[in-house]
Amino acid sequence: MNTILTTASPSQIETECLVVPVFDTAENSNGDKSAKPEPRLQTGDKAVIAAAADLITSGEVTGKMLETTLLHKPAGLKAKRLLLIGGGKAKAFSSLELRKLAGTAVRNLKGKDLKSFAFVAPNMRSGADDAVKSIVEGAFVGNFEPDYYKSDRKEQKIEDLVIVAPPKADQRSLKTAMEQGRIIGEAQNFTRDLVNEPSNRMTPTILADRAKAMCDEVGLECEIYGPDKIKELKMGAFWSVAQGSDEEPRLIVMRYEPARAPKKHVLGLVGKGVTFDTGGISIKPADGMEKMKYDMAGGAGMIGAMRAIAQLKPNVRVIGIVCATENMPSGKAQKPGDVQIAMSGKSIEIINTDAEGRLVLADGLHYAKELGCTHLIDAATLTGACVVALGMVNAGVFANDDNFYKGFSKSLQKSGEKMWRLPVDDEYREMIKSGIADIVNSAGRWGGAVTAAMFLKEFVGNTPWIHLDIAGVAWIEDNKPWIAKGPSGVPVRSLAEFARDFAAQ
Ligand code: BES
Ligand code: MN
Ligand code: ZN
Repeated sequence: MNTILTTASPSQIETECLVVPVFDTAENSNGDKSAKPEPRLQTGDKAVIAAAADLITSGEVTGKMLETTLLHKPAGLKAKRLLLIGGGKAKAFSSLELRKLAGTAVRNLKGKDLKSFAFVAPNMRSGADDAVKSIVEGAFVGNFEPDYYKSDRKEQKIEDLVIVAPPKADQRSLKTAMEQGRIIGEAQNFTRDLVNEPSNRMTPTILADRAKAMCDEVGLECEIYGPDKIKELKMGAFWSVAQGSDEEPRLIVMRYEPARAPKKHVLGLVGKGVTFDTGGISIKPADGMEKMKYDMAGGAGMIGAMRAIAQLKPNVRVIGIVCATENMPSGKAQKPGDVQIAMSGKSIEIINTDAEGRLVLADGLHYAKELGCTHLIDAATLTGACVVALGMVNAGVFANDDNFYKGFSKSLQKSGEKMWRLPVDDEYREMIKSGIADIVNSAGRWGGAVTAAMFLKEFVGNTPWIHLDIAGVAWIEDNKPWIAKGPSGVPVRSLAEFARDFAAQ
């Protein structure tokens, strides 16, 4: 999708469709829900206001969130159509809503086979740059469809997006904001592309090849290792999962090392890349097992984040590590009761071979430290328990360092990706003790998302660390007006934002 910035008057823009946000400016003090909506167009252009006047007075347009009203041949405008799109209460409007409006406009108009439109940036407290960036991000997200393998797939895509920005804003910084939005939106879709593929088309080898190709394209260093190196590094936890599959595992290492970056901080991004999770010998029920093709979403998220970072060029070193493997039952597979020695030297009693994500991450995190990472973030579709706790709205965040978490939570504000902090205090440590080894890989029924995080915590030591359990949010079950069902691309945006903030520290 091409993105074009303009400061022309909206009424003078020749386009298939002019999209104008409408906010409800009614105050609704003391929570009076019955207060009449006061829809206000987010443009000062008199001709546009006149063209929409009848719609507004009719009461048909209220400005409520995601309400769309389409008008053909609007009088006095050069646009062929006018789409009014509701942004809800003016007071509550933020970049999070704006992304949804842009995505909704894209999905609405591409469904009508339009290839281009112009979106009028609303006035935002966060400024015009942020508005432009959010529109572009949201539009890219809305333009992605997961129906790859349908033979009657319709190539409905928006090809040209015009963003109408206020003329007073600094044009150069608007352009930069637009480029950043594109980088982040494209990276998110890149990740969604990887996650969308079924496991026969996204083996560990293929995932590594795709990562390598991406790195070559954007100028990142990339090393790919197979079984020999994994064994040589004594990654006993990672290998214990990989040993059960006929597909070879891959250890993917991507490096972003700008020459002038300060030496003192290195950010490590570690992803779970289980390209299919059958559960292994502790096999999963058949019902819904097909979904376990997205068990590499954390790894794919790290690959997408590295792509965005390579293009955004923050002045900080970042190393991305993905442990890619299948989790299969076979004559070579590990069994409950087996004891494995992780790269760190810790011994692990395998209680449940389906708790494989923490095993591959244990060695991934330890290896990241060996490579010099001073700060660690991992992402994984780690536990069903996290989905039980937070549903499909928030990802779980765990952190062993309040300061590091604080910085990360600022990036969440910017990205609009929802995550909720859960605890990892030492009182839970009891639950992962083993009778025969240092720790167990599965701690029974209660607090499953926390005990999984406690397991990972064993391998990060004192290094500031954040763990993202994205099991509930990596896959969207139903279409939404602004995003198609299927892979979400979380947490690419948050990590891209965080890398920039982290560099600025
Ligand atoms: N990949 C699953 C977790 C998962 C569940 C992801 C639902 C996405 C949706 C993970 O490997 C797993 O199987 N976890 C087990 C852990 C248990 C055996 C301790 C779980 O959550 O049941
Ligand atoms: Mn599993
Ligand atoms: Zn898994």
